[in-house]
Amino acid sequence: QFFTKNGGELAGRTVLITAGPTREKIDPVRFLTNHSTGKMGYAIAGEAVKMGARVILVSGPVNLEPPKGAELFKVESAEDMYQAALEHFDEADIMIGTAAVADYRPKYIYEEKMKKKEGDQALELERTRDILFELGQKKNGQVMVGFAAETNDIEIHAKGKLSRKNADMIVANNVKQEGAGFGADTNIVTIYKKDGTAINLPLMSKSEVARNILAEVVQCFKKDES
Ligand code: CTP
Ligand code: CA
Repeated sequence: QFFTKNGGELAGRTVLITAGPTREKIDPVRFLTNHSTGKMGYAIAGEAVKMGARVILVSGPVNLEPPKGAELFKVESAEDMYQAALEHFDEADIMIGTAAVADYRPKYIYEEKMKKKEGDQALELERTRDILFELGQKKNGQVMVGFAAETNDIEIHAKGKLSRKNADMIVANNVKQEGAGFGADTNIVTIYKKDGTAINLPLMSKSEVARNILAEVVQCFKKDES
């Protein structure tokens, strides 16, 4: 491990990773969230450490041990995650957004617990900040990787996100496919690259997916240097 670390392909590089879900408060006892477990992001963090990188892991609430050697910043809401990621963006050579960031949050947070009443109840929502999009606008040489968990028209959605977010790669998966869903230890992904090419990876562990993504990131730097 010591040997790998010093001779690692990401030695001298800083990787900023967002991982896990976010929580958007409704009142003191309730929040909106999603099924993300953080496994993909933590796998990338672990592999990046092994490849010699400095790893900054900005994570929503998950039940995972952070990889040894990674710097963990725990956050809850999309806004907190944005602020933490922004704070470290300038130090980063690589930014990888694996987090399942809530797209909407309650427009008002009730200060006291909401009490039930007769009849239906509507919850007014407003858009959260798109972290990858906003950091993509501030890009200053960083290699940026986004994820796209889709159920349909995967290529169209992934390519749309690639250009809209100013990313270098979008890693897409079909969450309806067996072995690629939330919480699994495996994934089946396609890596869509800025140059228009795509890499289809077969079913593999999330650690292997992580190594493949990081190998592509290393290639981006090699291309820039040649
Ligand atoms: N992302 C982000 N901040 C958000 C929403 C998404 O940083 N508020 C990042 C995710 O971490 C992921 C990528 O953007 O790397 C794509 O996320 P996804 O939810 O698939 O795309 P959206 O742009 O939110 O579009 P939609 O959910 O409508 O498909
Ligand atoms: Ca989304």
